[in-house]
Amino acid sequence: MWEADAGRDLWDDASGLPTGPSPEAGRFVTGDLTAADLDVERTLRPQRLEDYCGQEHIKQSLKILIQAAQNRGESLDHVIFSGPPGLGKTTLATVVANELGAQIKTTSGPAIERTGDLAAILTNLQPGDVLFIDEIHRLNRSVEEILYPAMEDFALDIVIGKGPAARSIRLDVPRFTLVGATTRSGMLTGPLRDRFGISFRLDYYSIEELATIVERSASILGVSIDHDSALEVASRSRGTPRLANRLLKRVRDYAQVRGSGPIEISIAREALSFFEIDELGLDWMDIRILETLCKTFRGRAVGLSTLASAVGEDPSTLEDVYEPYLLQRGLIVRTPQGRVATLTAFEHLRLEPPAHA
Ligand SMILES: Nc1ncnc2c1ncn2[C@@H]1O[C@H](COP(=O)(O)OP(=O)(O)OP(=O)(O)O)[C@@H](O)[C@H]1O
Ligand SMILES: [Mg+2]
Repeated sequence: MWEADAGRDLWDDASGLPTGPSPEAGRFVTGDLTAADLDVERTLRPQRLEDYCGQEHIKQSLKILIQAAQNRGESLDHVIFSGPPGLGKTTLATVVANELGAQIKTTSGPAIERTGDLAAILTNLQPGDVLFIDEIHRLNRSVEEILYPAMEDFALDIVIGKGPAARSIRLDVPRFTLVGATTRSGMLTGPLRDRFGISFRLDYYSIEELATIVERSASILGVSIDHDSALEVASRSRGTPRLANRLLKRVRDYAQVRGSGPIEISIAREALSFFEIDELGLDWMDIRILETLCKTFRGRAVGLSTLASAVGEDPSTLEDVYEPYLLQRGLIVRTPQGRVATLTAFEHLRLEPPAHA
């Protein structure tokens, strides 16, 4: 989301609380995607392991596991990918299916409301299919219980009738590979987690890896970009390919209108500062969070829900989208009392830390 400078004066700077409509209206915020972003995201999504940059350990492991399963003529064991948003979990699910030469059926935890929905999905699978369940931590418990025997024994236990006359029948399900993705591996239940034979945690990407992704995306988009500019975009992308691609597109737009088209370092820097992406890749909401912790709460511990309402963001978005990167950069820490800004945060904002910090 992206437009001119709407809304900044809607903050009451003394209290740090919003005074009017959502102040992020019209600004670049890490958490949201436009329909156009999603469209382009599909075109930029790598289809095979060889196009997938970074996460070397996961790639090498998958190569071995896939080849071994294929040599034995078996389906691949169930796989779960976890990690912060935009690191490539959905992409990897598609890549796994492509490498297996299998069909992929895609659904998500919240989309499967009843046990019957899951039973219908499972019985419609073909042998060898990949079933991808995104946000798998959001499956409801009764649905999850249907999944256990399906994952373990490729069977579906269905109860017919009610009361004393009820009886359970067991149906076979084709051998399939379940690929799950989650941004919250901590919210997976033990029994579900245990049924995945293969589990990978995705990590933030290095700047070099992101620069490779930016260069690959630029060539797909037909934009010329020099290596320094690719590094500049990469270094402000919070270790996240999705953000690297989005920044690239915004820089491309800027270079097209304010420059001569090709992306060179001076125009790239100008564009990034125009769109208020700072050297650490922090966007306006990240800064808002840090300012709230440093200024409003003066470096004291703040509970998640208090912080969320102070910055006008949903607590789970705060926890899933913003916090992981702020934690990783050492700008905040989590304590039993709540979130605390670190000295690094005060330095980054060029603020004098209070004595107790
Ligand atoms: N390793 C990679 N190499 C190249 N591009 C990548 C890579 N990983 C991700 N991308 C790009 O980033 C975009 C976002 O990735 P993806 O949708 O797979 O993330 P995700 O982890 O599923 O995020 P979410 O948790 O929000 O669902 C993809 O469209 C793709 O273009
Ligand atoms: Mg995804």
